Amino acid sequence: MLHFTAMRRKLIAANWKMYSPPEGWDAADSPYKPDVGADIVIFPSFLDVRRLMDAKLVVGGQGGRAEPHGAFTGDVSMAMLKGAGCQYVLCGHSERRKYYKETDAAIAEQVTAAIECGLHPILCVGETKKEHDAGKAKAAVKKQLQAIPLSSYFLLPTSYSLSIAYEPIWAIGTGVNALPDDAQAMHMSIRSLLPKESRESTRIIYGGSVTDLNAADFLAHPDVDGLLVGGASLEPKRFQSIVAAALEI
Ligand code: PGA
Repeated sequence: MLHFTAMRRKLIAANWKMYSPPEGWDAADSPYKPDVGADIVIFPSFLDVRRLMDAKLVVGGQGGRAEPHGAFTGDVSMAMLKGAGCQYVLCGHSERRKYYKETDAAIAEQVTAAIECGLHPILCVGETKKEHDAGKAKAAVKKQLQAIPLSSYFLLPTSYSLSIAYEPIWAIGTGVNALPDDAQAMHMSIRSLLPKESRESTRIIYGGSVTDLNAADFLAHPDVDGLLVGGASLEPKRFQSIVAAALEI
Protein backbone atom coordinates (compact mmCIF):
# COMPACT_ATOMS: atom_id res chain seq x y z
CA MET A 1 0.00 0.00 0.00
CA LEU A 2 1.20 3.50 -0.82
CA HIS A 3 2.23 5.33 2.32
CA PHE A 4 0.07 8.39 2.97
CA THR A 5 2.97 10.84 3.10
CA ALA A 6 3.73 9.87 -0.49
CA MET A 7 0.19 10.93 -1.42
CA ARG A 8 0.57 14.38 0.06
CA ARG A 9 2.05 16.46 -2.70
CA LYS A 10 4.43 19.09 -1.35
CA LEU A 11 3.03 22.63 -1.14
CA ILE A 12 5.48 25.52 -1.31
CA ALA A 13 3.83 28.89 -0.77
CA ALA A 14 5.38 32.34 -1.17
CA ASN A 15 3.80 35.03 0.97
CA TRP A 16 4.87 38.36 -0.50
CA LYS A 17 2.93 40.34 2.11
CA MET A 18 2.89 44.10 1.25
CA TYR A 19 5.86 43.90 -1.10
CA SER A 20 5.97 44.26 -4.88
CA PRO A 21 6.94 41.22 -6.93
CA PRO A 22 10.72 40.79 -6.82
CA GLU A 23 12.77 41.57 -9.88
CA GLY A 24 12.96 38.54 -12.14
CA TRP A 25 9.65 37.08 -10.98
CA ASP A 26 8.58 36.73 -14.61
CA ALA A 27 11.93 35.59 -16.04
CA ALA A 28 12.02 32.54 -18.28
CA ASP A 29 13.56 30.50 -15.44
CA SER A 30 11.32 32.00 -12.74
CA PRO A 31 11.13 29.75 -9.66
CA TYR A 32 7.58 30.95 -9.04
CA LYS A 33 6.13 29.04 -12.00
CA PRO A 34 4.04 25.90 -11.45
CA ASP A 35 6.01 22.66 -11.41
CA VAL A 36 4.88 19.11 -12.01
CA GLY A 37 6.62 17.94 -8.86
CA ALA A 38 5.03 20.20 -6.23
CA ASP A 39 2.30 22.80 -5.77
CA ILE A 40 3.89 26.25 -5.92
CA VAL A 41 1.53 29.04 -4.92
CA ILE A 42 2.23 32.76 -4.78
CA PHE A 43 0.40 35.16 -2.47
CA PRO A 44 1.02 38.64 -3.91
CA SER A 45 -0.71 41.89 -2.99
CA PHE A 46 -4.21 42.15 -4.43
CA LEU A 47 -2.94 44.65 -7.00
CA ASP A 48 -0.51 42.11 -8.42
CA VAL A 49 -2.91 39.15 -8.62
CA ARG A 50 -3.93 39.81 -12.22
CA ARG A 51 -0.48 40.15 -13.77
CA LEU A 52 0.80 37.05 -12.00
CA MET A 53 -2.17 35.11 -13.27
CA ASP A 54 -1.61 36.43 -16.76
CA ALA A 55 1.91 34.99 -16.45
CA LYS A 56 0.29 31.61 -15.59
CA LEU A 57 1.38 31.48 -11.96
CA VAL A 58 -0.85 29.82 -9.37
CA VAL A 59 -2.06 32.64 -7.16
CA GLY A 60 -3.80 33.07 -3.84
CA GLY A 61 -5.20 35.95 -1.82
CA GLN A 62 -3.50 36.94 1.42
CA GLY A 63 -6.92 37.13 3.07
CA GLY A 64 -10.55 37.79 2.37
CA ARG A 65 -13.83 38.51 4.10
CA ALA A 66 -16.55 35.91 4.43
CA GLU A 67 -19.35 38.24 3.26
CA PRO A 68 -19.56 38.12 -0.55
CA HIS A 69 -19.89 41.93 -0.77
CA GLY A 70 -20.80 44.85 1.45
CA ALA A 71 -19.73 48.11 3.02
CA PHE A 72 -16.26 47.00 4.17
CA THR A 73 -13.89 49.70 2.97
CA GLY A 74 -10.50 48.36 1.98
CA ASP A 75 -11.44 44.68 1.93
CA VAL A 76 -12.07 42.04 -0.71
CA SER A 77 -14.24 38.97 -0.29
CA MET A 78 -13.56 35.28 -0.81
CA ALA A 79 -16.07 35.34 -3.66
CA MET A 80 -14.16 38.20 -5.32
CA LEU A 81 -10.86 36.34 -5.00
CA LYS A 82 -12.40 33.31 -6.62
CA GLY A 83 -13.95 35.47 -9.34
CA ALA A 84 -10.55 37.02 -10.04
CA GLY A 85 -9.06 33.56 -10.60
CA CYS A 86 -7.32 32.92 -7.28
CA GLN A 87 -7.12 29.26 -6.30
CA TYR A 88 -5.92 29.60 -2.72
CA VAL A 89 -6.38 31.98 0.20
CA LEU A 90 -4.55 32.49 3.49
CA CYS A 91 -6.83 32.52 6.54
CA GLY A 92 -5.77 33.62 9.99
CA HIS A 93 -2.21 34.69 9.25
CA SER A 94 -0.79 36.01 12.52
CA GLU A 95 -0.32 39.47 11.01
CA ARG A 96 -4.05 39.58 10.26
CA ARG A 97 -4.82 38.37 13.77
CA LYS A 98 -2.51 41.01 15.24
CA TYR A 99 -2.98 44.14 13.12
CA TYR A 100 -6.58 43.61 12.06
CA LYS A 101 -7.76 41.95 15.26
CA GLU A 102 -9.17 38.98 13.36
CA THR A 103 -10.71 36.59 15.87
CA ASP A 104 -10.95 32.80 15.76
CA ALA A 105 -14.68 33.20 15.04
CA ALA A 106 -14.09 35.53 12.08
CA ILE A 107 -11.38 33.21 10.76
CA ALA A 108 -13.77 30.26 10.99
CA GLU A 109 -16.27 32.19 8.86
CA GLN A 110 -13.57 33.02 6.33
CA VAL A 111 -12.49 29.38 6.02
CA THR A 112 -16.09 28.27 5.54
CA ALA A 113 -16.78 30.98 2.95
CA ALA A 114 -13.56 30.15 1.10
CA ILE A 115 -14.47 26.47 0.87
CA GLU A 116 -18.03 27.24 -0.16
CA CYS A 117 -16.83 29.31 -3.09
CA GLY A 118 -14.24 26.77 -4.19
CA LEU A 119 -11.03 28.28 -2.85
CA HIS A 120 -8.40 26.19 -1.08
CA PRO A 121 -7.79 27.86 2.28
CA ILE A 122 -4.47 27.64 4.09
CA LEU A 123 -5.40 28.06 7.72
CA CYS A 124 -2.53 29.59 9.72
CA VAL A 125 -2.12 28.67 13.38
CA GLY A 126 0.71 29.20 15.82
CA GLU A 127 1.59 30.10 19.37
CA THR A 128 3.08 33.29 20.82
CA LYS A 129 6.53 33.41 22.37
CA LYS A 130 4.95 33.55 25.81
CA GLU A 131 2.88 30.42 25.15
CA HIS A 132 5.93 28.71 23.68
CA ASP A 133 8.13 29.51 26.66
CA ALA A 134 5.41 28.37 29.07
CA GLY A 135 5.15 24.98 27.32
CA LYS A 136 1.65 25.81 26.12
CA ALA A 137 2.24 25.76 22.37
CA LYS A 138 0.18 22.65 21.64
CA ALA A 139 -2.74 23.87 23.74
CA ALA A 140 -2.71 27.27 22.01
CA VAL A 141 -2.70 25.70 18.54
CA LYS A 142 -5.42 23.24 19.57
CA LYS A 143 -7.66 26.14 20.61
CA GLN A 144 -7.18 27.87 17.25
CA LEU A 145 -7.90 24.66 15.35
CA GLN A 146 -10.95 23.75 17.36
CA ALA A 147 -12.51 27.11 16.47
CA ILE A 148 -12.82 25.90 12.87
CA PRO A 149 -15.78 23.58 12.14
CA LEU A 150 -13.64 21.13 10.17
CA SER A 151 -16.06 18.21 10.47
CA SER A 152 -18.95 20.21 9.06
CA TYR A 153 -17.19 20.63 5.71
CA PHE A 154 -17.88 16.99 4.92
CA LEU A 155 -21.57 17.90 4.78
CA LEU A 156 -21.05 20.38 1.96
CA PRO A 157 -22.28 19.24 -1.45
CA THR A 158 -18.87 19.84 -3.03
CA SER A 159 -15.62 18.18 -2.01
CA TYR A 160 -13.16 20.51 -0.35
CA SER A 161 -9.50 20.73 0.35
CA LEU A 162 -7.79 22.73 3.02
CA SER A 163 -4.22 22.93 4.25
CA ILE A 164 -2.86 24.05 7.57
CA ALA A 165 0.21 26.21 8.11
CA TYR A 166 1.89 25.90 11.47
CA GLU A 167 3.57 29.26 11.98
CA PRO A 168 4.91 29.93 15.47
CA ILE A 169 4.51 33.69 15.86
CA TRP A 170 7.93 34.12 17.44
CA ALA A 171 9.52 32.60 14.33
CA ILE A 172 7.82 34.84 11.73
CA GLY A 173 10.22 37.36 10.24
CA THR A 174 12.64 37.02 13.14
CA GLY A 175 15.34 34.82 11.64
CA VAL A 176 14.72 32.36 14.50
CA ASN A 177 13.03 29.28 13.04
CA ALA A 178 11.46 26.49 15.06
CA LEU A 179 13.61 23.40 15.33
CA PRO A 180 12.55 21.01 12.57
CA ASP A 181 12.03 18.22 15.14
CA ASP A 182 9.72 20.49 17.15
CA ALA A 183 7.79 21.37 13.99
CA GLN A 184 7.38 17.67 13.24
CA ALA A 185 6.04 17.07 16.76
CA MET A 186 3.58 19.95 16.40
CA HIS A 187 2.46 18.76 12.98
CA MET A 188 1.75 15.31 14.42
CA SER A 189 -0.25 16.90 17.18
CA ILE A 190 -2.22 18.99 14.65
CA ARG A 191 -2.85 15.91 12.50
CA SER A 192 -4.24 14.02 15.47
CA LEU A 193 -6.84 16.78 15.92
CA LEU A 194 -8.15 16.61 12.34
CA PRO A 195 -11.34 14.73 11.46
CA LYS A 196 -10.35 11.17 10.76
CA GLU A 197 -11.65 11.28 7.17
CA SER A 198 -9.09 13.93 6.24
CA ARG A 199 -6.35 13.26 8.78
CA GLU A 200 -3.89 11.60 6.45
CA SER A 201 -4.67 13.59 3.32
CA THR A 202 -4.45 17.12 4.77
CA ARG A 203 -1.22 18.93 4.13
CA ILE A 204 0.37 20.60 7.13
CA ILE A 205 3.08 23.06 6.15
CA TYR A 206 5.58 24.96 8.27
CA GLY A 207 6.25 28.71 8.19
CA GLY A 208 8.49 31.03 10.17
CA SER A 209 11.98 32.09 9.04
CA VAL A 210 12.23 29.40 6.40
CA THR A 211 15.29 29.90 4.20
CA ASP A 212 17.21 28.04 1.55
CA LEU A 213 19.50 26.86 4.36
CA ASN A 214 16.88 25.16 6.55
CA ALA A 215 14.16 24.15 4.05
CA ALA A 216 15.49 20.65 3.45
CA ASP A 217 15.71 19.97 7.20
CA PHE A 218 12.01 20.73 7.61
CA LEU A 219 10.95 18.85 4.51
CA ALA A 220 12.83 15.74 5.60
CA HIS A 221 10.21 15.22 8.32
CA PRO A 222 7.26 13.01 7.39
CA ASP A 223 4.53 15.35 8.65
CA VAL A 224 6.00 18.51 7.13
CA ASP A 225 4.17 18.64 3.81
CA GLY A 226 5.52 21.94 2.59
CA LEU A 227 6.55 25.43 3.57
CA LEU A 228 5.02 28.90 3.82
CA VAL A 229 7.85 31.28 3.04
CA GLY A 230 7.85 35.03 3.68
CA GLY A 231 11.12 36.96 3.46
CA ALA A 232 13.12 34.35 1.55
CA SER A 233 10.36 34.05 -1.07
CA LEU A 234 11.13 37.60 -2.21
CA GLU A 235 14.59 36.51 -3.31
CA PRO A 236 14.20 34.38 -6.44
CA LYS A 237 17.51 32.52 -6.01
CA ARG A 238 16.74 31.52 -2.44
CA PHE A 239 13.19 30.57 -3.32
CA GLN A 240 14.52 28.48 -6.17
CA SER A 241 16.66 26.49 -3.70
CA ILE A 242 13.65 26.01 -1.43
CA VAL A 243 11.58 24.68 -4.34
CA ALA A 244 14.49 22.45 -5.35
CA ALA A 245 14.58 21.01 -1.82
CA ALA A 246 10.88 20.12 -2.10
CA LEU A 247 11.35 18.51 -5.49
CA GLU A 248 14.18 16.36 -4.19
CA ILE A 249 12.15 14.77 -1.37
P1 PGA B 1 8.94 34.68 7.20
O1 PGA B 1 7.35 34.85 7.09
O2 PGA B 1 9.33 33.54 6.29
O3 PGA B 1 9.50 35.99 6.74
O4 PGA B 1 9.26 34.37 8.62
C1 PGA B 1 6.50 33.73 7.05
C2 PGA B 1 5.06 34.17 7.00
O5 PGA B 1 4.71 35.22 7.56
O6 PGA B 1 4.21 33.49 6.39
